[in-house]
Amino acid sequence: MPIVWKKEMAVHNQIIDDEHKLLICLINGVEIALRAENHGMMVLFLVRELKTYTKDHFSAEEKIMLDHDYAGFSEHKRAHQDILQQIQALEESIRKAVENEQALDAEELNLIGLLRSWIIDHVLQVDLKMRPLFD
Ligand SMILES: [Fe+2]
Repeated sequence: MPIVWKKEMAVHNQIIDDEHKLLICLINGVEIALRAENHGMMVLFLVRELKTYTKDHFSAEEKIMLDHDYAGFSEHKRAHQDILQQIQALEESIRKAVENEQALDAEELNLIGLLRSWIIDHVLQVDLKMRPLFD
């Protein structure tokens, strides 16, 4: 099921909200690619795109938090680093499977599902704490 952005997810900062919408599109793209046959390479490239975009988005978010002297900055930044590490590990494992011309196994498919929940939970719980900064 694709994730649909809802206004309850809004932190009320135009840049962050627009980037979250795009992030969700990228995650949905990975999920759609998984349904295609011989999806290894496609999934690998999409996960790479997702990693690059997530990295840039987290940097932008951290800059905005610093500009607003946000008290939860350190904790939030740590959560970003955790997610980036997980994406990195996932990319690595998909890359190996693709290089060895193996189909993605259950563990990798499961990781992609987890990735979706990490990012969505992050947006819904951790990012939403920033909303008072922008209201
Ligand atoms: Fe965040």
